[in-house]
Amino acid sequence: MSDVTTFSATVSATTRNGILVVTIDNPPVNATSADVRLGLSRALAHAEAEGAISGVIINGAGKTFIGGADIKEFGKPPVEPTLPDVIERIEALSKPVVAALNGAALGGGLELALACHYRIASPTALLGLPEVKLGIVPGAGGTQRLPRLIGIPAAIELIASGRITKAGEALSLGIIDEIAGTDLIDAAINAVQKLAGKPFRRTGELAIASADPAEIDKVSGKLLTKARGQKAPTEAVRLIASSHRPLAEGLADERATFLTLRDSREAAALQHVFFAEREAPKVAGLEGVDPRPIDTIGICGLGLMGSGIAAAALGAGYTVIGLDQTLEAAGKGRERIIGLLERNLASGRLDQPDFDAQTARLSVTATDVDLTPCDLVIEAVFDDLDIKIDLFRRLDKVIRPDAILATNTSYLNPDEIASASKHPERVVGLHFFSPAHVMRLLEVVRCKETAPDVLTTGLAVAKRLRKLPVVTGVTEGFIGNRIFSAYRREAEFLLEDGALPHEIDAALEDYGFPMGLFAVYDMAGLEIAWARRKRQAATREPSERYVEIADRLCEAGRLGQKSGRGWYAYADGKRTVDPQVTAIIEAERTKKGVVVRSFSQAEIQKRLLDAMTAEGEALLAEGIAARASDIDLVMINGYGFPAHKGGPMFAKN
Ligand code: 3HC
Repeated sequence: MSDVTTFSATVSATTRNGILVVTIDNPPVNATSADVRLGLSRALAHAEAEGAISGVIINGAGKTFIGGADIKEFGKPPVEPTLPDVIERIEALSKPVVAALNGAALGGGLELALACHYRIASPTALLGLPEVKLGIVPGAGGTQRLPRLIGIPAAIELIASGRITKAGEALSLGIIDEIAGTDLIDAAINAVQKLAGKPFRRTGELAIASADPAEIDKVSGKLLTKARGQKAPTEAVRLIASSHRPLAEGLADERATFLTLRDSREAAALQHVFFAEREAPKVAGLEGVDPRPIDTIGICGLGLMGSGIAAAALGAGYTVIGLDQTLEAAGKGRERIIGLLERNLASGRLDQPDFDAQTARLSVTATDVDLTPCDLVIEAVFDDLDIKIDLFRRLDKVIRPDAILATNTSYLNPDEIASASKHPERVVGLHFFSPAHVMRLLEVVRCKETAPDVLTTGLAVAKRLRKLPVVTGVTEGFIGNRIFSAYRREAEFLLEDGALPHEIDAALEDYGFPMGLFAVYDMAGLEIAWARRKRQAATREPSERYVEIADRLCEAGRLGQKSGRGWYAYADGKRTVDPQVTAIIEAERTKKGVVVRSFSQAEIQKRLLDAMTAEGEALLAEGIAARASDIDLVMINGYGFPAHKGGPMFAKN
């Protein structure tokens, strides 16, 4: 071991056995910022010049190898050396360079590793080129070197999806050469010693395995359909598919494409989403407020929602106690939860030991007092105020004074539910989206009395559940359903004014929604909303515009896909435009004396977007949402708004 040599503020090295062990220390994620690139190029020059140095190891300080290029530098004037310069220098070095991947090697981080002469990873390392998720393509050789290592179809699958792989899969694909069994740096030193003095493999010089064009089409076709017209995946496929040309030519094309995309609207939108996700859990005034420790979660009501929450909680390592009204209902709930875990087992997301461990952490009961060990109890019972109030009163008597009570209500007022507890300060809303074990969004509702550490606990639980938490104040429908109501109302106005359901749906799909609004209604079923409208009828403001078309449909027994017809017909299960629906719409227009006009796709898109943003502005003005970017996250993750448009609040600018 020798003294530390400093190459820049973020790059230093020690020498072990004549090998320069270079460490990048650029918190939080060792991004390849200008100072890192400078330090690395100096370290490489030093290694080349010093006769006593036989090879180089590059690793990262902390739990990340390199999280990628520094996204915060995008849009700023370029500073040399660029990442491609450093990477070219690594590949060309006359001495072996080994990448020791101590943690995530993503984007530019993996590209740097791909140019090293050997890659060794710790068993927990994660690897990937997720640039398309930021609206760009890899810009430092990823589209050219990865196919040289793993072939064109596998490279397309990884890069055009942005999927992250674990070390085991990376080894079997051929992205890395070894997984370190013991100490990573010791193993990397061994690797350098084996390579030193011998001709070693330079990725850029490898020939690309020939690939069946049909296979390339199959892999890329699937991904591009899913990408719904986004530019970056299309460009990534093009670059990878043409990577058999000379390396320099491919690299130049890749860099030019990267730079063009980097300045695009799509990239700005996706980068907005990236930073919005990291901003969302930060709540002003709660800095330094520690969450309460949570190990055991009680879940009341083991229907679809409760079971999904239970499956997510078991997956995150919590002990779960499920409560239902009778032992029979609790038993059925248990079966439902186990069924969800079995699906994970069958799909390979869960292995047998994990499955066994998760089922061992689950118990169910019909007796309130069995919830005594819980640190947090989440109610997911029928959305009825009296039922929830009764439950909270009962729970108050059995849970510990420091335990937290959460309500999963969608439309009721959680302040009223909280007032049923003698300690409303321990109540928070956790509004999961269905299916709760799949959907990432979690609205964390800050009630009038919620204590600061109860709110931070809600956020910490969301993080451990791998959910995306967005804090919302109390209002009917919280952030998501309030905006959704405004958007739905506007879509119904459009219907009455002259657009047909399939025209509105086509405009939404053209914008990037995975499915149009009326098709979604049909899938979900129209009954629940119909029942709500009937309940609200007595209190509805008579001067308010109200469109009755949906009521007429329901009265005609058109309750959605399950009933065989709704906004569309489903003869043979296929969705088709139904002249009977058009007739109902036309009759309503005539009844109201509407002067019908036609709408272009752009007009439909604008009217719906304007409705969403106007409601978003209202939520900001009322202090229900803290930031416009939180609203964007809710609509993207809960309601199908295309991420590459950045969310309604971003898109309006
Ligand atoms: N550049 C700048 N800042 C970054 C960053 C990056 N590439 N990646 C993460 N950060 C910041 C985050 O904004 C966050 O900042 P904050 O503390 O101020 O909120 C902080 O680092 C920590 O990030 P996370 O909360 O995400 O930390 P985790 O530990 O949960 O995850 C990670 C770490 C897996 C590395 C995750 O941050 C991640 O996925 N990062 C992005 C990976 C990526 O997309 N890389 C490609 C970049 S583009 C590129 O490389 C272009 C190249 O081809 C030329």
